[in-house]
Amino acid sequence: MLKICAMYASFDLSLSHSSPLSGELRLPGDKSLSHRAALFAALAEGESVIDGFLVSGVTRAMLETLKALGIAWNLSGERLAVQGKGLHGFKPPTAPLFCGNSATTLRMLAGALAASGTPCVLEGSEGLRKRPMTRITEPLLQMGVPISTPNGCAPLSLAARDAGNPLRALDYTLPVASAQVKSCLILAALAADGTTTIREPGPSRDHTERMLAAMGADICADKPYTVRIAPLTRPLTPLTLCLPGDVSSAAFLLAAAALVPGSSIRLRNVGVNPTRTGFLDVLKDMGACITVENRHATAGEPVADVCLSSAPLKAVCVSGDTVVRMIDEFPVFAVAACFAQGVTEVRDAEELRYKETDRISVLCGELKKLGVQLEERKDGFIIRGGTLTGGACEAHGDHRLAMSLALAGLAAPTPVTVHHAEILNESFPDFVPQLRLLGATAQKPAL
Ligand code: S3P
Repeated sequence: MLKICAMYASFDLSLSHSSPLSGELRLPGDKSLSHRAALFAALAEGESVIDGFLVSGVTRAMLETLKALGIAWNLSGERLAVQGKGLHGFKPPTAPLFCGNSATTLRMLAGALAASGTPCVLEGSEGLRKRPMTRITEPLLQMGVPISTPNGCAPLSLAARDAGNPLRALDYTLPVASAQVKSCLILAALAADGTTTIREPGPSRDHTERMLAAMGADICADKPYTVRIAPLTRPLTPLTLCLPGDVSSAAFLLAAAALVPGSSIRLRNVGVNPTRTGFLDVLKDMGACITVENRHATAGEPVADVCLSSAPLKAVCVSGDTVVRMIDEFPVFAVAACFAQGVTEVRDAEELRYKETDRISVLCGELKKLGVQLEERKDGFIIRGGTLTGGACEAHGDHRLAMSLALAGLAAPTPVTVHHAEILNESFPDFVPQLRLLGATAQKPAL
């Protein structure tokens, strides 16, 4: 089995002081929705056609695992066609399923495989093998799923289960709000013997609920942060949809424009599901002029154009539910905070320590290399604005860290160079071309 992730040609990315950014862009498809659309299409019966699919390292990982499970698909540009074989249609793979760096792939597949009863081993990159998995194995075991982990991390082994033997319905409260864990349990609950209830301490993204409901699953959120799922009584309907642009990728371009005085940009067709827009709210609180226009819905998801004009940024404090609503945006938020007037504080964000890297300690370490005065806390950090000078730093195999740190160069007194920035291909291969379209000057060998 291939034990390494997609190999990207290594490069350093340097950004330096920029003239104002301007223009209009359409972003690549949403990563979370692309993962779900591919997997749920495989669980439906018949052909799904998904436009606006994100073609990137982590979504490739999902597609390759589906192929190994006997699911036929065809990717043409950003159009993905999937031949779904139903909830019990997976073929047992002949080798461990390699999920690369993608925790979303591994955790959601675990739920789908639990429902289908397919025996297999779920494996991942060195980075993925460090991420906590008992958060899914414990509730899955309570449901009667024959799953095991050597040390609370991947590889996870699932033994065969008779599809005629339903799983136990569960009433379960997640210790930490997590859409990946919730989605895993929702998928397993499709094959349970009654209604499963999942409660969360905060508002994690609800794409799974929206998409499965649109496919005919009996799933409802009748109370805040509570989802009920009935077992599937008829096959899921295939999908025909066009995915919106990724608000988490939009965050980088919005932050870029916010950092460069005189900038004004419009990002078209961005997903603005309220469980994902915490960073837009926070940027507004910091003083950026943000408007959300042309609101409409696609595939049960709110979509809009997001426009930003720069204005001087001021420090804010982020805590509580907002943390969950911008869980992937802390690296880029931290960089914006470096250029805000005052002292920014992040609290209640210990979950950041369990992402692609420990996004508290690694982020603070790299920002310190760029001259930033900050204090690391157990559940967040404090950043003194106006102290970032520039220099060189390291991506640590974390796509969001790579892009965020590079952006600091747009407004720093001296350029910022990020080593091993190629990891950005995991989620946003168009990052540099799109920044250039807006007018930024990026040094990167042979695009
Ligand atoms: C994701 C959920 C988030 C997020 C990840 C994608 C998803 O993880 O960090 O990038 O697609 O469900 P948690 O929900 O586990 O925090």
